[in-house]
Amino acid sequence: MSVHASDPAPARPGAVTRKPWTVPMLRAAKQDGHRLAMLTCYDASFARAVDAAGIDLVLVGDSLGMVMQGHGSTLPVTVADITYHTACVARTLRHALLVADMPFQADATPGRALDAATAFLQAGAAMVKIEGAGPKLEVIRYLVEREIPVCSHLGLTPQAVLRMGGYKVQGRDEGAAALLREQARQVAAAGAELVVLEGVPSALAAQITADLDIATIGIGAGPGCDGQVLVLHDMLGMDSGHRRPKFVKDFLAEGGSITSAMRAYAEAVRDGSFPGAEHSYT
Ligand code: KIV
Repeated sequence: MSVHASDPAPARPGAVTRKPWTVPMLRAAKQDGHRLAMLTCYDASFARAVDAAGIDLVLVGDSLGMVMQGHGSTLPVTVADITYHTACVARTLRHALLVADMPFQADATPGRALDAATAFLQAGAAMVKIEGAGPKLEVIRYLVEREIPVCSHLGLTPQAVLRMGGYKVQGRDEGAAALLREQARQVAAAGAELVVLEGVPSALAAQITADLDIATIGIGAGPGCDGQVLVLHDMLGMDSGHRRPKFVKDFLAEGGSITSAMRAYAEAVRDGSFPGAEHSYT
């Protein structure tokens, strides 16, 4: 299946005339070598702009705890918060695939995760994102068996900030790299349709990308992933009040509008010019 096989409109990647993204199109995108451009988004106005810019995937991330609510981490975000912002985005989003983030401990048991994921899908999401592997494998399997598409999130998982002692690059030594590769295979085998790799050395992220037949989306994971994601406020150069990570690029810095900055981001992801070595870890 080709990503845009039955699309009567021109198949230019990123064109807003294309068919709305669906979950099965993600595997086809990987096969076709279509690099996926993803942004976070939390409200209806930005959702319109994201669609106009031809972004493929939108994440209502628990990063909203930091960029919208002013918290110091993502831990205070609740199921009600994600449900509310997912509904706001879903009201105007027409083309990008909408992914909702599972907040801290909302996936502590399969039953809790099912309740949260049901609320997110009823608010308009097409997929839920779950941080981690290990005990989360059972949760991923449980949701997938109940028709809930899952995006995994591995590497620097911000909900583990206390255990990690900060937001630190993961998988740098041989043992940690082997574990991360194994976890990626496990989440794919459990039924995940997408994997976000955050804060991972470029070479390791490229290896994981080659290992899997589902798409990888990098953030601080180098250019070898099947797609990229950035926090909206970061790619618009806004001061988050936190140290700016190396992988962030301000796409509004060269002027123009918010939509043109988003379009420049999507084009840079698709032509492979973003991220560069200066945005990546070794
Ligand atoms: O919450 C979020 O925005 C995220 C992305 C940074 C991947 O998890």
